[in-house]
Parts: sequence; C-alpha cells; structure tokens
Amino acid sequence: MQTMIGIIGGSGVYQIEGLEGASWTRVKTPWGKPSDEVLIGRLDGVPMAFLPRHGRGHVHSPTTVPYRANIDALKRLGCTDVVAVSAVGSLREDFAPGDFVLVDQFIDRTFAREKSFFGTGCVAHVGFAHPTCPRLGKAAAEAARAAGARVHEGATYLAMEGPQFSTLAESRLYRQWGADVIGMTGMPEAKLAREAELCYASIAMVTDYDCWHPDHDAVDVAAVIATLTANAALARATVARLPGLLGRDRADCPHGCDRALTHALMTAPDK
Ligand code: ADE
Repeated sequence: MQTMIGIIGGSGVYQIEGLEGASWTRVKTPWGKPSDEVLIGRLDGVPMAFLPRHGRGHVHSPTTVPYRANIDALKRLGCTDVVAVSAVGSLREDFAPGDFVLVDQFIDRTFAREKSFFGTGCVAHVGFAHPTCPRLGKAAAEAARAAGARVHEGATYLAMEGPQFSTLAESRLYRQWGADVIGMTGMPEAKLAREAELCYASIAMVTDYDCWHPDHDAVDVAAVIATLTANAALARATVARLPGLLGRDRADCPHGCDRALTHALMTAPDK
C-alpha cells in the first residue's frame, strides 16, 4: 500500500514547507466542514495532507474543532498515517518548555465533543488500550531527534475541555493521576483516528509548566505563543523528515491500527 501522511497542525504549525505541487483543497464530509481546506502535495515523493486543526487564523476553539470532519477528510484523501502536532503544558519537572513529547496514553476529561463515528444505526467498540501507533510514534520520535529536538518517548496526556486553563487544585490532581502533559485537543482526535483505522501519533510540544510549578508563573497565552514561535522551525523540520523515514510503500500496521474495526462492529452490516 502507498503511504500517505496526514499532518494535523496545532497552534503554531500552520503549513508544511517544501511541498511539491501544493494546493489547498476543499473536502466534503458527512460530518460537516473540516477546520479548513487541506493542503495536499508531495514531499520526497510521498503524498502528504496538512490540515490546520484550528483553521488558518485560529478560528476554532478546542471545543468547536470539527474533529470528526477532520479525521474523515484525511481518511477520504487516502491518508494511512496521521501525525498530530499540538501544544501542551508540562505536569512534570523533567519535561521542560521547548521539549517534544511522544504521547502514548491519554486520560480523556473532555465532555462537550462528539467522540465517535458510530452510535446511530451502527454500533462499534474499537480497542483503545494503546491509543497511538508505536510504529508511527517511533518514526515521529526519530524525525524530531534528527531535527534537533529534545524528545521524550512515552507520556500520558490529560485532555481537558478548556478553554480556560486548569485551577491549581486540578493541576495537582492530574499530576497525582500520573498524567505527564496537559492539552485541550488530543481527544477525541485519537479515538476517531482509531475508528477510522488510521495509524495515529501525537507529538506534543511543551510550552509551559501549567500552574503547579512553584518556581514558574502560571500559564498564559503569551507564554504559550512565545515558546511555540521559538519551536515552530523545529516542528516543521520534524514533519519534513517523516516521509524519508516512513517511505513510499507501507506494510500492514504490525499493531493492527489499520484493522481496528475487524472485531469491533456490533451491528450487522445490512442493518
Ligand atoms: N496547551 C498549552 N499549554 C497548556 C496547558 N497548560 N493546559 C492546557 N492546554 C495547554
């Protein structure tokens, strides 16, 4: 199968440089409009699709991002692998602002979002014990390291609803729960990618220490944007290395991400 890499860019990542034949393309989905048009092109001979999660101009809040339309649009375009890039707060001392973190677990505390493609007419329960694809995550970590980032592999992401940042009590609680980073967009994106049988990896860029750290100011948007701006080049260089690492041809996912629905459907297909 031919590899096609989808990139969902978060705050600070609004394009891919060096895409050959790049054009912004409107994609229609049964789930409504995606956050924006999708930038399609080729990098090192590998087809790529880039979607800015919040839309160009940052018009969608974490709650109003059309997650189902976004994942469906990338699936329809033929993506096999989706790498999500997002800004996060750190819940531990050794994950410092500027570091890149490969997330492999989530705690979902969001509550105001559509989280499944299934449920009306067709019921499915996909396995989600391991919410990200280890093969894709390894490649993303390698790409980030080669680009010059300080990378941590393996972390638990607390997905909060927002848009307000956490209280001190919440931040302390999430640390006790074992969460390593906190963000507002990781869910339900990862759940929907699994339902769409896409390999999904999450590169979280640490922008702040949230509000638990006694030696650092509580997070604000200015601090987040300053760190993101400083790291935007590193994020773009990471993305640019992915096609070379993943290659044009793709074997079946050894972890079964691309077959997630095989034993998940409850409703007979003719219903
Ligand atoms: N995104 C970046 N920093 C964050 C934080 N501290 N909490 C939630 N989302 C974030």
